[in-house]
Amino acid sequence: MLSTKTKVIALCSVAVLFTACERPPIETTQTGFRGTAMVDVANPRLPEPELGYPAALPPAGAGGPRAGDVYQNVQVLGDLSVAEFTRLMTAITAWVSPEQGCNYCHNPADLASDDVYTKVVSRRMIQMTQHINENWSDHVGENGVNCYTCHAGQNVPEYIWFSAGDSAFGNKHFVGWRDGQNMPDVGVGYTSLPSDTYTMFLKDPVGNQSIRLEDEMFSSGELGLSIKDAEYTFGLMTNWSQALGVNCTYCHNTRDFSNWEQSPPTRTTAHHGLNMVRDLNANYLIPLKPEYPDNRLGPHEGDAPKAYCATCHQGVNKPLGGADAVSDYPSLAGR
Ligand code: HEC
Ligand code: HEC
Ligand code: HEC
Ligand code: HEC
Repeated sequence: MLSTKTKVIALCSVAVLFTACERPPIETTQTGFRGTAMVDVANPRLPEPELGYPAALPPAGAGGPRAGDVYQNVQVLGDLSVAEFTRLMTAITAWVSPEQGCNYCHNPADLASDDVYTKVVSRRMIQMTQHINENWSDHVGENGVNCYTCHAGQNVPEYIWFSAGDSAFGNKHFVGWRDGQNMPDVGVGYTSLPSDTYTMFLKDPVGNQSIRLEDEMFSSGELGLSIKDAEYTFGLMTNWSQALGVNCTYCHNTRDFSNWEQSPPTRTTAHHGLNMVRDLNANYLIPLKPEYPDNRLGPHEGDAPKAYCATCHQGVNKPLGGADAVSDYPSLAGR
């Protein structure tokens, strides 16, 4: 005979088991007209991604002498009070070099010195972050970005790209030139699509290959584009979907991919994102090449490390899960 106590425990365990097994249903959100199958699917059973975003430091006093007057070599953050400046240096350390500390960028014997390349790169990074927040609000909105958005506590952001170069694919002018096709690459979801869509679309400020196929193929009256061009577009689109962890329907009504009027507003945001990435690469990241040591440069062409959508998005539609990245550090947004 089981005692009453044992029975109660047994019953409770069963109840607990059932509760634990009762799994929330998959969530679908309608994002377009009825009947167009425009839905976003989210799985609440997956664990929440751990962001590890460090809590904001307590605010610092804005009064007293300016950092630019007290220190010797402050070229960008000179208007901050000394307390605000120190607070920002502490935050930057937590965002970029939590293990190495201040000395990742500083010669401890002389904080004003620019001997350490990471300090010179960081100064430009501060300007780039300010530029994104001040001039690309069409894309980053009010939430903006800070160093952690890309670096996530690491010296080098997890998602960067280098040019694959001719050397990666054989010689362009000989038989066997694959142009990056059939070379399973994580950037295009291990499909056979051309993998170096980065160099094609994200390098030049205007892009050297057209993403828009329909206009050029049909409206212009001359068949200027080939199926191969379409494969480049699809490679890029696969890359974007992965970078944001979304499906094509997040930005398109798939009955008419090219039609902007039928596309959700996210597509317009993505279009601004494309222009922003080109701007960051052309005006900030590529010109930093002379500052880096050789081991930071690309394996094929010795080019500087560059950004794409995943550098900030890291697999989610809103970087940092939609957290406000600038209100606590207004000097990174010219506020
Ligand atoms: C990721 C790089 C980085 C880290 C880490 C870093 N700094 Fe800095 N630091 C800079 C840059 C860049 C400047 C120059 C800013 C400017 O030109 O506006 C600077 C300037 C300074 C200066 C001014 C020196 C002078 O006389 O010109 C001081 C003081 C300073 N940092 C202290 C610190 C302290 C303390 C820490 C650690 C808590 C730290 N920094 C961590 C990049 C860094
Ligand atoms: C848009 C994304 C992005 C943002 C925002 C950003 N960085 Fe970077 N950062 C990069 C990329 C890309 C590189 C090149 C990676 C490499 O060095 O291999 C880089 C490189 C660096 C490096 C050189 C690291 C090394 O070991 O070579 C430092 C230091 C750095 N960033 C500091 C900062 C600081 C400080 C901020 C904030 C003020 C910041 N970054 C904001 C993308 C970003
Ligand atoms: C994050 C938003 C986003 C996602 C996700 C996305 N696209 Fe796009 N797509 C765009 C934007 C923006 C353009 C136009 C690019 C430009 O501004 O020139 C575009 C252009 C295209 C075009 C060219 C349309 C034309 O004008 O001829 C095709 C085809 C396309 N996408 C297919 C896809 C496919 C297939 C997927 C899924 C694998 C996908 N897209 C995922 C935003 C997105
Ligand atoms: C410098 C960092 C950064 C880069 C690089 C970046 N994004 Fe974003 N993106 C953001 C931020 C920040 C937001 C605003 C999220 C919010 O409102 O919280 C955003 C928002 C978006 C949204 C709208 C999300 C929504 O649901 O409203 C889309 C779509 C998007 N990005 C696509 C892209 C694409 C495509 C690329 C590459 C071509 C790209 N992004 C590159 C930082 C970035």
